[in-house]
Amino acid sequence: MSIAISIPQIFSAGVIHRVPWTVHIPFVVDRKFPRLEDTRLTTRNLNISIGNSHILKDVNVEIPQNKITCIIGPSGCGKTTLLRTFNRFVDSIEGVRIDGEVNLGKQDIVSAGAGEMSELRRNIGLVPQRPCPLPMSIYDNIAYGCRIHGVRGKRKLDLVVQHYLEAVGLWEEVKDRLHTPASKLSGGQQQRLCLARSLAVEPSYLLADESTSALDPISSRTVEDLFVKLKRDYSIVMVTHTLRQAQRIADYVIFMYLGEVIEQGDAKEVFGNPKHELTRKYLSGGIS
Ligand SMILES: Nc1ncnc2c1ncn2[C@@H]1O[C@H](COP(=O)(O)OP(=O)(O)OP(=O)(O)O)[C@@H](O)[C@H]1O
Ligand SMILES: [Mg+2]
Repeated sequence: MSIAISIPQIFSAGVIHRVPWTVHIPFVVDRKFPRLEDTRLTTRNLNISIGNSHILKDVNVEIPQNKITCIIGPSGCGKTTLLRTFNRFVDSIEGVRIDGEVNLGKQDIVSAGAGEMSELRRNIGLVPQRPCPLPMSIYDNIAYGCRIHGVRGKRKLDLVVQHYLEAVGLWEEVKDRLHTPASKLSGGQQQRLCLARSLAVEPSYLLADESTSALDPISSRTVEDLFVKLKRDYSIVMVTHTLRQAQRIADYVIFMYLGEVIEQGDAKEVFGNPKHELTRKYLSGGIS
């Protein structure tokens, strides 16, 4: 499929809306997805319990904007729970209780009602651990979320699909088979498709929970490289078990242990000069 519209034509048709502070990946959908002015993502005295277990203990974090934040720590320390609190995916856990504050700018995420949830989850997108394309075509995987959020018109959707497939480096690989099932793509291609699907609704944040763990090393590095490019336009929060990956791409690091945030800060500082004994032990392989 090709799109026979030149860039100036697109602009004159008012289809592409360039948000002033974005340079690298202009946002395609005009006005449907207004960006919040204040997108600081913070928690204050956040406590999460599941049944009688106290899972997150007094967590205070502020996620920096347009950076890659990596959450690290041993298995079971609460990384996924913290990540899933940011878009309230923790709600799906039976017996979960959230106390404290989680805010996106001025919006209180903890008390967001059902009506605000769809917009919240559009703004804070989740890239899954395992690639999970929807059971539909490559094209529809990208167009689906846009249609749900009211984007109409074939020409606009064609542009959105091409734009985000290009953003994740998949366009050249799939442009001749856009209407074939997404399930026929390779694992690495499926993961990039899922990333494009999350981007197509123009979130402010991307949450990634070990999103490269199911990929081969080359696909994994491709997704890592993409995250590094995407941080110009998005803030990325990533859980990773791979310290080397965190050392390669993190700008900011949150180290957790037994449900607490032990240390957080600039990645160079935390990796090069950890302040806490537990962080030192974890980084040197003394805790796993
Ligand atoms: N649905 C649930 N029901 C009961 N306990 C849960 C549930 N989900 C998570 N937990 C518990 O919460 C704690 C934190 O789990 P979480 O998945 O956040 O850890 P994690 O740091 O992401 O671990 P991993 O690195 O193994 O993925 C664990 O003790 C876990 O057993
Ligand atoms: Mg986890």
